[in-house]
Amino acid sequence: MKNEVELSKAKWLVEPGCVVLVTTGTLENPNVMTFSWQTPVNSADPCLILLAISHVRHSYNLIKQNHELVINVPGEELLEQTHFAGSITGTHINKFKEAGLTPVPAKTVAPPLIEQCPAHLECRVAEIFKMQTHDLLVCEVLRAAADADMFDGKWLPEKFHTLHYLGGNYYGVMERTIVAGGKAKTQK
Ligand SMILES: Cc1cc2nc3c(=O)[nH]c(=O)nc-3n(C[C@H](O)[C@H](O)[C@H](O)COP(=O)(O)O)c2cc1C
Repeated sequence: MKNEVELSKAKWLVEPGCVVLVTTGTLENPNVMTFSWQTPVNSADPCLILLAISHVRHSYNLIKQNHELVINVPGEELLEQTHFAGSITGTHINKFKEAGLTPVPAKTVAPPLIEQCPAHLECRVAEIFKMQTHDLLVCEVLRAAADADMFDGKWLPEKFHTLHYLGGNYYGVMERTIVAGGKAKTQK
C-alpha cells in the first residue's frame, strides 16, 4: 500500500545529493551556511552546480558582493557543525569560530575553504535566476580538490560518509558502495 503524500512534503521524496557547507565572504571575514538544495547541472566543462538560496540568507548578501563561494563537503563527523551552520545566521556571529571550523585560503576565490572538509569546489556565481522564495545560483566550478583516500573519481562510502538531509534534525549517511552489473552501458 502507498499513502498519498502532501504536495508540500513531496520534496522530501527526492531530497537531493549530499549536504554541503558553503563558505562566503573573505578569509578575514568568512561566513558558512548549510545547503541541501544543490545539484550538478552540466556534465561537460565547465562544471556547473545549481544552489537554491533563500532571499533572506546573510550568505546571499555576501555572495552579491563578490559573486564567489566555496562548496565544501562535510562528512558524518561534522554533523553537529553542519546542523549548527544551518540553524543560526552569521549576521552577528562568526560561525567558523563558534563551530570550531578552520578557514584556510582558497586558490582562486576570496571565500575560504573549511580545513576539516575533505573536498572543496571553488566557484564563481555565473548567473542568478530570480524565483519566489529561493533564487537559483548557477555556480561555475573554477577549481576542485578532494582527499585522495576518500575520493578516487567517486566517493568511497566505506571510508567517508556524506550526509543526506531528511528534514528537521534528521540526516542519513551513505555507507556502502553497490555495483550494477548486467546489460546496461554506463552513460554520463
Ligand atoms: C540540512 C540543512 C539544509 C539547508 N539547505 C538550505 C538550502 O538549500 N537553501 C537555503 O536557502 N537554506 C538552507 N538551509 C538553511 C540555512 O542553512 C540557514 O538558514 C542558515 O542559518 C543561513 O545562514 P546565514 O544567514 O549565515 O547565511 C538549510 C539548513 C539545514 C539545517
